[in-house]
Amino acid sequence: MSQQQWDAVDSYFSEKLVGDDPVLAAAQAAADAAGLPQIAVAPNQGKLLHLLALTQGARRILEVGTLGGYSAIWLARALPADGTMITLEIDPAHAEVARANLLRAGLDKVVEVRLGRAADSLVELERAGVEPFDLVFIDADKAGNPDYFASAVRLTGPGSLIIVDNVVRGGSVVDADSTDPSVVGTRRLHDVIAAEPKVSATSVQTVGTKGYDGFTLARVQG
Ligand code: SAH
Ligand code: DHB
Ligand code: MG
Repeated sequence: MSQQQWDAVDSYFSEKLVGDDPVLAAAQAAADAAGLPQIAVAPNQGKLLHLLALTQGARRILEVGTLGGYSAIWLARALPADGTMITLEIDPAHAEVARANLLRAGLDKVVEVRLGRAADSLVELERAGVEPFDLVFIDADKAGNPDYFASAVRLTGPGSLIIVDNVVRGGSVVDADSTDPSVVGTRRLHDVIAAEPKVSATSVQTVGTKGYDGFTLARVQG
């Protein structure tokens, strides 16, 4: 099994089931032109997020880690007319690209890009006592995931869905001796989830254009 094969299968699925999308293509091109890292979700993963948000009937979405707004566009397109989304980003250059992409997508009134450390923005949201989010997508620095997940539980309610990207990272998640902050963060994330009676969760391994990785799905019970 090779990366080449995973790319071919992803291309096949994306051509068949996702199709061409000028707005998303322009968003990706703008992110590339601005020199952003190529770590956005793949098209077929973006569509998965979109379908999960639709299935969820999400009216309020929170994202941690905006980059150029690619996954934000997928998620926000699932919102109803009165829906809103907040996406958190630490890097002003990334936030700028994302805002331009969301404007081009006609989603600038729907999605707020909030600049700052995610940990600070999450505390702010908790302090403000905002209405619970129906879906949270966690996709920023992996070292922060235990804290981001704990915040997400406090910012959601029964029936909400929390999704965490990049929980496998080439299989390194099973390395209990790793000192890599991303691996340590991902393992602590799983400890936090396992000890959290409020959620029912699973993690799934994936292969594709983004390599060998995976995601966690956690449903807030009730
Ligand atoms: N969700 C995006 C990809 C996000 S990449 C997509 O699929 O399209 C991860 C992003 O998290 C980067 O833009 C990075 O700048 C941001 N990030 C990293 N550390 C962060 C932190 N502490 N707080 C907020 N954002 C952070
Ligand atoms: C990285 C971050 C991501 O969100 C991702 O999907 C892939 C890689 C990274 O920081 O390397
Ligand atoms: Mg990711």
